[in-house]
Amino acid sequence: MAARAALITGITGQDGAYLAKLLLQKGYAVFGVLPRRASDMLWRLRYLGIQDDVQLLDGDVTDLSSVIRAVEHSQPAEVYNLAAQSFVGTSWSQPILTGMVTGIGAVNLLEAIRMAQPKARFYQASTSEMFGQIREPVQSETTPFYPRSPYGAAKLYAHWMTVNHRESFGLHASSGILFNHESPLRGPEFVTRKVTLAAARIKLGQQKSLRLGNIDAQRDWGFAGDFVEAMWLMLQQDQPDDYVVATGRTTTVRDMCSLAFNAVGLRYEDHVEIDPALMRPAEVEVLLGNPGKARERLGWSATTPLEDLISMMVEADLARERQTA
Ligand code: NAP
Ligand code: GDD
Repeated sequence: MAARAALITGITGQDGAYLAKLLLQKGYAVFGVLPRRASDMLWRLRYLGIQDDVQLLDGDVTDLSSVIRAVEHSQPAEVYNLAAQSFVGTSWSQPILTGMVTGIGAVNLLEAIRMAQPKARFYQASTSEMFGQIREPVQSETTPFYPRSPYGAAKLYAHWMTVNHRESFGLHASSGILFNHESPLRGPEFVTRKVTLAAARIKLGQQKSLRLGNIDAQRDWGFAGDFVEAMWLMLQQDQPDDYVVATGRTTTVRDMCSLAFNAVGLRYEDHVEIDPALMRPAEVEVLLGNPGKARERLGWSATTPLEDLISMMVEADLARERQTA
């Protein structure tokens, strides 16, 4: 019997790589949509040792015809839409591109499924950024949204289009409202990885200081390896639905810095400088999720404490920096 197929957009990103690994372990035939890029895109798949195990299909989520071809070719039972311009900071300088990729891209996937594979189950990578200027101190599936960035607004459009395709056309379309999740495969522009990489480089004498923006911001940070399990679980449910995926604990960027620098025997206060240019035009000051529904309905909960996550990231950065030194 042919293996159950899954199609992942954004397969070369942090979550795409961990999800591909998880699905391969579960016996799926894993297909990924690969947009054309000049630089090395496959480093995360190589890092996890799965680059030869996934089947990559030329395509871009902004190009509907390529998305339809990818769906037709892979005949997926499950489609995970992880592709996005996902860096919040860039979404102010490239708001239209962000809208096209992060917003319209999701609708292209939904329409391709509706036309070519209506029985496929669909996962949309929604985000706690949609809560933005929070309306409730702890955010759940029923908390009103108030996005604070072009990225958050684009994701909110994709989120509601997912709900709308579920309600209008009966698609098995679910939306995971994931809070921040990190790993050694996190892009270096995001604050945790920026900090763990800097701590490692400063320890090795390759860098002196680290410039950051708002270190009073608070995030509910978990481990990406844990969070991709929740994505898969959502698509195993009889009924599609929306779920908050979070740890239920929030920490300041400042305290996260302290964890990272302590892990290499340094004090962040001796190395971190505040750069007003890194402040955002509108900030999401604090995020804290209530993962109760995911725990009750999916049997999922986060298992990696922030201390372990940051140590894991610092160790990985130390190892990689030593290798390239
Ligand atoms: P990521 O590392 O930035 O991965 C995004 C992926 O999308 C990359 O592989 C990227 O390729 C690809 N991509 C960009 N534009 C594309 C296009 N036009 N067509 C096809 N692929 C394209 O993000 P992540 O952290 O893995 O997050 C995965 C998803 O979850 C994203 O949608 C993100 O917005 C969402 N999310 C993330 C978090 C989090 O904390 N990590 C939380 C909530 C939601 P290139 O790098 O080559 O552009
Ligand atoms: N990136 C970055 N760089 N952030 C900084 C810096 C810095 O130098 N200094 C302070 N920060 C603050 C940001 O202002 C923000 O409040 C917080 O650190 C986290 O920033 P990021 O790590 O860039 O993540 P994010 O919360 O904006 O967005 C991430 O999480 C979302 C889920 O809530 C991304 O992964 C999004 O794609 C995701 O949807």
